[in-house]
Amino acid sequence: MFAYRHAFHAGNHADVLKHITLVSSLTLLKKKEAPFLVVDTHAGAGLYTLQSPLVRDKAEWPSGIGKLWAASAMPEPITRYMDLVKTFNKGGRLTHYPGSPLLAQMLLRDDDRLRAFEMHPSDIGPLQAALRGRPRQLKAERKDGFQQLRALLPPPSRRGLVLIDPPYEMRADYGLVIKALRDALTRFSTGIYMIWYPVIARYQVERLLRQVAGCAIRDVLHAQLTVRSALRDGLGLQGSGMVVINPPFGLYDDLAVALPVLAKALGQDGKAGFRLAQGDTPESIKTALGMSTPSAAVSPSQDRR
Ligand SMILES: C[S@@+](CC[C@H](N)C(=O)[O-])C[C@H]1O[C@@H](n2cnc3c(N)ncnc32)[C@H](O)[C@@H]1O
Repeated sequence: MFAYRHAFHAGNHADVLKHITLVSSLTLLKKKEAPFLVVDTHAGAGLYTLQSPLVRDKAEWPSGIGKLWAASAMPEPITRYMDLVKTFNKGGRLTHYPGSPLLAQMLLRDDDRLRAFEMHPSDIGPLQAALRGRPRQLKAERKDGFQQLRALLPPPSRRGLVLIDPPYEMRADYGLVIKALRDALTRFSTGIYMIWYPVIARYQVERLLRQVAGCAIRDVLHAQLTVRSALRDGLGLQGSGMVVINPPFGLYDDLAVALPVLAKALGQDGKAGFRLAQGDTPESIKTALGMSTPSAAVSPSQDRR
């Protein structure tokens, strides 16, 4: 169960997509005054040392944040995220990468809250250390993030964002995501739910998206970034996707400017691409999730909203 260590993947293209989506969403949420709760069901270790001996030679950040680091004149949704990463890298050298709970905590206002869950015995300590200092506001616990949603939803302020980002190393994670989502929606139907998924085996992606479409959702945004041509199913990460249920207003526009730039900057061959779609009717939700197209395969195109 504990084979997965996010340290190897920290700052890769999938983290870049996930974290730009997260940073944009939280920035947009702050346009309204009412406080919100952020739940990070699978939080990781918090801060990653990119040159650590643990990940040497196997680290994936050079083909993700490493490529963006040197780039100039990025659009605002990317710059906003890069600015947060830069606060962990004083002096201009890229040495550290902040994971989702650290990015989220930087965007919280005094009355906003973060609850983070992490099961790995080696990652929970660093995570708790990274979030130490604001106990009223930030809390990290070694608990099963899927199960904790029950107790936390709905939040008292009725405003909340839940990031669901399991390793998917065990196939059971796919089913657990859907189970947790269904249950969470019955408790808190207006919450923002962000589900990250890997593009490895196409059938698994299609099944996950079909099951999301079968949940009681009224508005969904789907963004997918692929950085290379398809590999044989199960053989490696071709890209990743984010499903955002009840996306904050403005997220589509942020991703519409970020995704083409990311596909170009992070593409590993001529087949890199993205898709972006949003739906708020039963038919458009299915289309957004790739169901009315022949397949969920990625083309370098942008679906219409
Ligand atoms: C993809 S990583 C998280 C990355 C992090 N969200 C980020 O973006 O920086 C998934 C993490 O979930 C942890 N994990 C696995 N099963 C879990 C569970 N049931 N509850 C909480 N954490 C779990 C793993 O140890 C791993 O650190």
